Amino acid sequence: MYSQIGILTGGGDAPGLNAAIRAVVRTAIGEFGMKCIGIEDSFEGILGETHTVKLNTKSVSGILPRGGTILGTRNRGSFVKMINGKPTFTEMPIAEALANLDILGIEALVAIGGEGTLAIAEQFHKRGFPVIGVPKTIDNDLAATELTFGFMTAIDIATEALDRLHTTAASHDRVMVLEVMGRNTGWIALHSGVAGSADIILIPEIPFSLDSIVEKVLAREKSGSRFTNIVVAEGATEVGGAEMYKDAEEMRLGGIGDYIRRRVEEMTGKESRCVVLGHLQRGGSPNAFDRMLGTNFGACAVRALASGETGKMVALQAGSIVTVPLSEACANIKNVAVDGQLVRTARDIGISFSAPKASRFGEEATFEVRTQGS
Ligand code: F6P
Repeated sequence: MYSQIGILTGGGDAPGLNAAIRAVVRTAIGEFGMKCIGIEDSFEGILGETHTVKLNTKSVSGILPRGGTILGTRNRGSFVKMINGKPTFTEMPIAEALANLDILGIEALVAIGGEGTLAIAEQFHKRGFPVIGVPKTIDNDLAATELTFGFMTAIDIATEALDRLHTTAASHDRVMVLEVMGRNTGWIALHSGVAGSADIILIPEIPFSLDSIVEKVLAREKSGSRFTNIVVAEGATEVGGAEMYKDAEEMRLGGIGDYIRRRVEEMTGKESRCVVLGHLQRGGSPNAFDRMLGTNFGACAVRALASGETGKMVALQAGSIVTVPLSEACANIKNVAVDGQLVRTARDIGISFSAPKASRFGEEATFEVRTQGS
């Protein structure tokens, strides 16, 4: 059993991080009598002049509903460098970090983060340091877990945005494009698009054609619906095209929403507007589900450490929290299944993914005309 563990948060923040921190601290202290040290600003806090904070039940009191992370976070920091457009791990800081962990008396680590953070955590495990990962990301793109906390709150926010865009789109007879996050997966776009009654959902897993988008907009026009709401994932691509970046060097996705707005306006003559939802999807209070999942993940992570597990990540599978090897957790990105149930349901209720007719996702677009007057 460890007498003192460290906890850190890494990568982009996600609603529910503080819930997970609170659960780790309360479980470690209350259930196992361990001390807890918070490491600030991800792994950066255990480099150089270390930045840490003692955590007890009092210091995590009241943080459950708070957004962000009380420990701070960094996207990459010193452990990952972009070399030839690829995130690459460097050896030096890990040796330094391990030496500092020893000086700080931290015997094991709970690392809360997405793919990048968990990949760094795995490097610690490979060097014999006990570590358990806790998955978080609004993108919900980690293969080994059915859900990550942050995702449900992000969907709530994107759904509310679509609801709000609906009334203004309908009032002005406009095409509204909402660009949402999700990196190279379409989970946020798909779920919020279904919940928020989008007419067109564009996801990276199904490359779109502008002709199909225009066809849908015009079919709606013909059936008397003179506005169209489009939700597009930031990583969506046109058939034969590439993803768009607002910062190519840092690989920060963005710009696809405005591209679609401009082209649809040119091709249909309809007034079009684009809204980029951005970090509103990440900031602020977690919803009830994310508080619950963050809490459950945090407590289960400490239980796993206490029972001697290491090099693992807690994961939600079939409604229960299990542990999976970190290597497995980081191996693959979880994509939307293009022939999955929710995509099928979306199509059945008349939502278009705007795949070109000839593609293997070939569609649709006749829905408005078929249901006209029904
Ligand atoms: O992974 C979470 C996420 O919000 C992505 O959806 C988005 O592409 C990215 O992080 C943006 O990161 P940042 O603005 O922190 O660089």
